Amino acid sequence: MNILVTGGAGFIGSHTLIELYAAGHTAVVVDNLSNSNPVALKRVAEIIGIESIPFHKVDLRDHERLERIFEEHRFNACIHFAGLKAVGESVEKPWEYYENNINGTLVLVDVMRKHGCKNIIFSSSATVYGDPAEIPITENCPKGQCTNPYGWTKSMLEQVLMDIQRADPEWNVVLLRYFNPVGAHQSGRIGENPNGIPNNLMPYITQVAVGKRKELGVFGNDYPTPDGTGVRDYIHVVDLAAAHVCALQAIARRCGIGIYNVGTGHGYSVLDMVNAFIRVNGVDVPYSIKPRRAGDIATCYCDPAKAKAELDWEAQYGIDDIVRDSWNWQRQNPDGYPAV
Ligand code: NAD
Ligand code: UFG
Repeated sequence: MNILVTGGAGFIGSHTLIELYAAGHTAVVVDNLSNSNPVALKRVAEIIGIESIPFHKVDLRDHERLERIFEEHRFNACIHFAGLKAVGESVEKPWEYYENNINGTLVLVDVMRKHGCKNIIFSSSATVYGDPAEIPITENCPKGQCTNPYGWTKSMLEQVLMDIQRADPEWNVVLLRYFNPVGAHQSGRIGENPNGIPNNLMPYITQVAVGKRKELGVFGNDYPTPDGTGVRDYIHVVDLAAAHVCALQAIARRCGIGIYNVGTGHGYSVLDMVNAFIRVNGVDVPYSIKPRRAGDIATCYCDPAKAKAELDWEAQYGIDDIVRDSWNWQRQNPDGYPAV
């Protein structure tokens, strides 16, 4: 299939491009580079062994330019990664988050339907479950109250896409609810490249390990978890990328609406991650215990059985692979991608 990949220069999109080409698909990337670097696409092409990835530096909200892209290419489906994703920033700038994520998706869907491309895979998040009613979280778990505008954009866009599919059954909509994407491609050539101080655990750990930050703050050790620190379902980004290829097969089977948790089914605490990193990589990660971070929940991990049963997808990589590949990326690229 020929796939439109929005946000393809970003962390998850860049890894997904590799899996798409490995499975025999082709892709065209649309990204405004607001949170990414075109060097990622250059390296993706090198890994795949092609000259370049077709790329348009376009903002999804630019209706006219998106139309022109659809006139130039014929797409069988869209994998829609593009969006703003920083939880804390979304609390400071709610308008910007709603405007970018919701308008961007509405424009995209409008152009898609005008051009008869009615297949979409949407990057949703475990955050739509709020403080989950049950652990492990299955897809039957009710959606909850999100604690930030970013989370609400995901929850609302799930609803928008489901309503569109119900009104026009020609659509196939796959909602992938990612748990905690981490790790990097085994080559160490592409990986997560956060701007400024990382918000998320794994890039913070790697930046401490490489000497860019003094110590990791562990946000709370008084949660009702085995060691008191927060428990999450960390999924290797290469596994997550592969889930999108499996979701395309569901689209080819005309799945209608498909909702899937994409996680490993295992929960690891903050200290589990730190200790695994030190053990596997032989590098120290100094840390100290800090107060809880507002909006965090104690435990979040999924039951991935539905994705296994219906998409024939399951995670292949474990915690040791995750900490090894994260470190491999960070030490080869201590300052992330070079400035362009
Ligand atoms: P990322 O920021 O690395 O990638 C997103 C890409 O979208 C960036 O390259 C950015 O430049 C682009 N973009 C943003 N707004 C755009 C617009 N209006 N027009 C065109 N391009 C635009 O993020 P990621 O980690 O790769 O996440 C991909 C998707 O997965 C996002 O939708 C994110 O919300 C979702 N998600 C991520 C996580 C996570 O922890 N990384 C967890 C759950 C869900
Ligand atoms: N943590 C620390 N110190 C840090 C950063 C994080 O102790 O410096 C802890 C957090 O308190 C939490 C765990 O590490 O217990 C994981 O935190 P992350 O920020 O890495 O991830 P979250 O689970 O908070 O959120 C992530 C994404 C969201 C997404 C959510 C569910 O950032 O976009 O997973 O998919 F919505």
